[in-house]
Amino acid sequence: MRLNVLLLPGDGIGVEVIREASKVLARIADSFGHELALSEGLLGGIAIHQTGSPFPDGTRDLALKADATLLGAVGLPEFDNAPPDKRPERGLLGIRKVLGVYANLRPVRSYRALIDSSPLKNELVDGTDMIIVRELTGGLYYGTPRGIFGSGTTEHAVNTMAYTRSEIERVAHMAFQLASKRRNKVTSVDKSNVLENSQLWRRVVTEVAADYSGVTLDHILVDNCAMQLVLNPKRFDVVLTENLFGDILSDEGAVLAGSIGMLPSASIGDKRPSGAWVGLYEPVHGSAPDIAGQGKANPLGAIGSVAAMLEYSFGLVDEARAVYGAIEQVLNNGRVTADLKPAGKPASTAEVGDAICEALSARAVSA
Ligand code: IPM
Ligand code: MN
Repeated sequence: MRLNVLLLPGDGIGVEVIREASKVLARIADSFGHELALSEGLLGGIAIHQTGSPFPDGTRDLALKADATLLGAVGLPEFDNAPPDKRPERGLLGIRKVLGVYANLRPVRSYRALIDSSPLKNELVDGTDMIIVRELTGGLYYGTPRGIFGSGTTEHAVNTMAYTRSEIERVAHMAFQLASKRRNKVTSVDKSNVLENSQLWRRVVTEVAADYSGVTLDHILVDNCAMQLVLNPKRFDVVLTENLFGDILSDEGAVLAGSIGMLPSASIGDKRPSGAWVGLYEPVHGSAPDIAGQGKANPLGAIGSVAAMLEYSFGLVDEARAVYGAIEQVLNNGRVTADLKPAGKPASTAEVGDAICEALSARAVSA
């Protein structure tokens, strides 16, 4: 198979983790006999520096041509005081919208080898296995009107939380379909005791549930969800929520697994005529400028995102499984970065990438 993949390393540690992730992708292509066609583009702060725009037209064209896009991270401190439309983050929002990737899947699971890295007691976190389905192209991130208006005592700011019925329906279907391949449970998260937006969300999700008789649905308010994630994370299977709530809850979920550096994500939209999902794959951690360029970043979130890409965009389930297996093996061997608090000397970003490639080769030989 020809794997036509666009790499967008972006800013900060994005560059280092994508370097390792693309090594892993090359190793997989090699050992499973796929042809790898890589292109590379600019997004985020580096794109602003080089072209003046966080999401240049050239990057848009490359993304529309690629079968899948693998992204590192965006964000640089020098843009902290810039207006939203001049910030690196706007590039990320732009590419999500252009690709129409409305469902962001963030799997949160506890690995045995990392159980002591979790801030929760072992017995609380052991066995946690959920997937957060975050709506990604609507809500407060995109709603209009938006802006800061007026001046002096009348200065005010507006953001708009807007959802259409069809935007809620399509992401809800995604969540129910995923749940039907897992433990058949969807928990929809909203703030319907206060927001009309959430009232529509809850009503539409309940209607969609009628199509999936094997899946149970419960609703939970977002504040309570934040609490239940640390009190009883095992109660969750598929968590379905809107854009901003999902952004916040997934960072909370990420640390349950030991480190935010572990979390991959897959952002998918509709299927292409070929049957493949349009997909954008990125680790959940940000650009972490404080540790950028030092070889300290954990590449496993990015490498897990490669596995998700193989699975969703290319339907290569065996290849994805090989990557997940290699991640598990490297965790068990303790060749991990400092965020995972290894017993011995922490490994560097590149050493973890190499360890994954070695584990893949060993598996290929024994298979
Ligand atoms: C994420 C990030 C982004 C988001 C930022 C960088 C715009 O926090 O992917 O979770 O808020 O979606
Ligand atoms: Mn986030």
